[in-house]
Amino acid sequence: MRRLADKVALVTGAGSGLGAADCEVLAAAGAHVFVTDVSLDAAKHVAARIGDSAMPLQLDVSSSAAWMSVVAEVDRRFGRLDILVNNAGLCLLGDVETQTLEQFRLTQAVMNEGVFLGCQLAFPLLKKSASASIINISSIASMRGFAGFVAYAAAKGAVASMTKAIAAMCQDKAYKIRCNSVHPGEIETPMQQEFEGRLGEERLVPPGVLPKGAIGAPSDVAAMVLFLASDDSRFITGAELVVDNGATMRAT
Ligand SMILES: NC(=O)c1ccc[n+]([C@@H]2O[C@H](COP(=O)([O-])OP(=O)(O)OC[C@H]3O[C@@H](n4cnc5c(N)ncnc54)[C@H](O)[C@@H]3O)[C@@H](O)[C@H]2O)c1
Repeated sequence: MRRLADKVALVTGAGSGLGAADCEVLAAAGAHVFVTDVSLDAAKHVAARIGDSAMPLQLDVSSSAAWMSVVAEVDRRFGRLDILVNNAGLCLLGDVETQTLEQFRLTQAVMNEGVFLGCQLAFPLLKKSASASIINISSIASMRGFAGFVAYAAAKGAVASMTKAIAAMCQDKAYKIRCNSVHPGEIETPMQQEFEGRLGEERLVPPGVLPKGAIGAPSDVAAMVLFLASDDSRFITGAELVVDNGATMRAT
């Protein structure tokens, strides 16, 4: 029996990078996967690669109307949701002296409010699952000071603390829903390639500290997402799962 046989999953920001890898791994484990992204073309491309178990949908996570329409489609097709991966993100670089308020607000709209909206609006369907898992993608930027990521870090910190509030509520109300945050270090994706080029010296993982090849692959994070999605992690909720090859563990 495959680990996620017949589970229903929805991944946001799944047209690229980590989200696309999550969809591939969840589908390979037997899940029906809604591949959602603000870019429908990107979502379709990923879904076509996966095959019949993947369904592409357009979803701008900062829009409650968009969430309602996607949730209605999941409800129509399956009547429940077992796995929600709030992964969509963007990275607008800036420190507190240079980041514009507009950039700060857009970052919060997508990565902070977007996670809140996803959790809130998918809740009625998650409650219909026999055993549901919400997986919120945060970052090690919520745990360490990265000067050039002020808006990004604010959103990722909010994701980590929001995750705990949701996990606690699920326990208090005896819902069969777990909620955890995943904190990747530097992982090779289009987003990482963009900030890598623009940041110069200020990398998420300082050069020279870790062994060569320390930048992770999307599949490294997808393996954690698969574990959290499955009932193997049934005793884990409200936790921060770090996937960073030891970057945050090190003093220097
Ligand atoms: N790559 C890394 O090193 C790294 C490290 C830590 C955390 N993360 C987090 O992982 C997640 C995925 O990042 P990635 O590296 O795969 O980036 P990526 O740029 O490759 O993919 C991000 C996806 O999100 C989508 N997106 C952007 N705005 C959206 C919106 N409003 N609604 C829906 N989708 C939207 C994009 O279209 C894109 O497909 C993000 O939350 C990011 O912050 C990445």
